[in-house]
Amino acid sequence: MEQIVNYDEAKVPHYTLPDPLRFADGTPVTSAQAWQEQRRPEILALFEKVVYGRTPTGPIKMQSEVTSVDDDALNGQATRKEISIHFRGADAEAKMDLLLYLPNSRRGPVPLFLGLNFYGNHSIHADPGITLSTAWMRENEASGVQDHRATEASRGASASRWAVERILERGYGLATAYYGDLDPDFDDGFQNGVHPLFYTPGQTRPAADGWGAIGAWAWGLQRALDVLQEDDQVDGSRVAVLGHSRLGKAALWAGAQDPRFALVISNNSGCGGAALSRRRFGETVARINSSFPHWFCANFQAYNEREDQLPLDQHMLLALVAPRPLYVASAAEDLWADPRGEFLSALHADPVYRLLGTEGLPAEEMPPLEQPSMGRIGYHIRRGQHDVTDYDWEQFMNFADRTL
Ligand code: GCU
Repeated sequence: MEQIVNYDEAKVPHYTLPDPLRFADGTPVTSAQAWQEQRRPEILALFEKVVYGRTPTGPIKMQSEVTSVDDDALNGQATRKEISIHFRGADAEAKMDLLLYLPNSRRGPVPLFLGLNFYGNHSIHADPGITLSTAWMRENEASGVQDHRATEASRGASASRWAVERILERGYGLATAYYGDLDPDFDDGFQNGVHPLFYTPGQTRPAADGWGAIGAWAWGLQRALDVLQEDDQVDGSRVAVLGHSRLGKAALWAGAQDPRFALVISNNSGCGGAALSRRRFGETVARINSSFPHWFCANFQAYNEREDQLPLDQHMLLALVAPRPLYVASAAEDLWADPRGEFLSALHADPVYRLLGTEGLPAEEMPPLEQPSMGRIGYHIRRGQHDVTDYDWEQFMNFADRTL
């Protein structure tokens, strides 16, 4: 296992990226139709096979139930709704709790941001009306988690990452769910969460090309979208999916697979997200697979320290979103996530956006700090660390205003 983390641009290896606009057999992709009907499915199948694993489609039952509504939440600014989504397979079941804020200033169905959270719905805002999650959580004293459970001290613990009032003020809704409802984030051989719902008789874990935890989180985002599209207060054709860090990886994978997401936003998603794997800058494939063996499919392990053998790179994941709007955000001090690799990925997705007749990313060089570049692809790098800040949200909303 590789020990030294490279943070030196001069030590980035020479690499050649696979061309999204060439079929696996080398023939060029020259029309929008050839992209949509042939090349896009070919690339999607590669990501399923070697990176995230296939998402199963087996017959499970899904039922949603509104558990609370308050049309006078946040001093009258919002309507808050909680919806439990129950999933049942042959031998297992799971539940995801969705929290929704809708601006009371709305006239008609609202466009909305949907993203998973790390510490329960109650962590995104101190609003006492949010039900406290009882699910297993990663230990985190600062977030009020004790013995793997949330406490009253968890309320609002992640509020700085969710600009709730500002989102509502700008006319957007917000929907979120706890990622651990879909798959608790530890390596248990896929015995908990939604994986067992899809096991065939005798099966005890996903196949080598079957989904891992990121696949399950992305699946949950899609199921949340199913429910949002049924809600007549939400404009289901204008739902933006977003996520930070590991949840940014999940948001990208959800947006790549599911064209119903109208806008896809990655915040500091790094390795296995927006960053190019071949650069081996900061976190590498070998590192991520050893620290988080449950995130990707088992086949991804074969590329530890063999990034050049990958039949794809992450710019092709971004290209799967085309021609829908896509936004990639980096943070200058978040070198582990390789900001430059995130930018280059967006840049190398641009030719696909152009082939599809859109503006792509209107930049050739990485833009200066806090000077976003916005076309059909948007990108910014802000000052500071690995985080989601009000600055990030303002850019996401500016971009959504332009493109949604
Ligand atoms: C770790 C991991 C990253 C991930 C991050 C996060 O740093 O190595 O890949 O993005 O956690 O989710 O916060």
